[in-house]
Amino acid sequence: MEDVPSGLAGHPDRLRWNSKYEAAPGLSPVHPLAERALALPMPDGGVLDLASGPSGSALLAAAAGRHVTAVDISEIALGRLGAQARRRGLGSLITLVQADLGGWRPEPPGYALVLCTGFWDRAVFGRAAGAVLPGGLLAWEAFTEDARRDRPRMPAEWCLAAGEPASLLPGGYTVLSQADDPATAKRHLLARRHSGPAR
Ligand SMILES: C[S@@+](CC[C@H](N)C(=O)[O-])C[C@H]1O[C@@H](n2cnc3c(N)ncnc32)[C@H](O)[C@@H]1O
Repeated sequence: MEDVPSGLAGHPDRLRWNSKYEAAPGLSPVHPLAERALALPMPDGGVLDLASGPSGSALLAAAAGRHVTAVDISEIALGRLGAQARRRGLGSLITLVQADLGGWRPEPPGYALVLCTGFWDRAVFGRAAGAVLPGGLLAWEAFTEDARRDRPRMPAEWCLAAGEPASLLPGGYTVLSQADDPATAKRHLLARRHSGPAR
């Protein structure tokens, strides 16, 4: 990774996640939602992995020939992902972006798949939904409010409210699935953007 962008030097999310990744070496496993999405028909185009961490899912997408843009605030996570991608001969297929998702904007023309697991922010979700190419997929997983029963200190804004995130989709999407996993207090969404004009 290049130097840490100056605006991120003291960012609390960066400091917190760098410490976590330093304490736990290794990659994040391929997420089952990513595996499922990548097995579905998709238009030509890249994959955007938001809050990627050292993402096994990004590596899977690159191994399938997709160009992947991985965005995360932690240079430890991104450095680890980049090193593993190079080891697997996939370095040229993965672009690493160190950024705070609160301020980052996806670039046109968009992505065949936008993936985000383990992170929630309504504004980021809205931008992500706008960055999916016609016919492409949006795949998301985050904690529900149930997670706060076991972790009362978890901020409410990190958690999906009832019906979210499907209820926040703009027009022009079909929900393929949205379901809760009570064991983890997480909910996933898989949705496809219509390929024609918005209905
Ligand atoms: C729970 S981990 C999920 C990692 C990966 N997506 C997965 O499913 O294993 C949350 C990720 O969000 C990243 N993150 C936290 N706050 C962020 C922010 N403000 N901007 C960008 N990334 C952030 C962390 O660095 C971390 O990699």
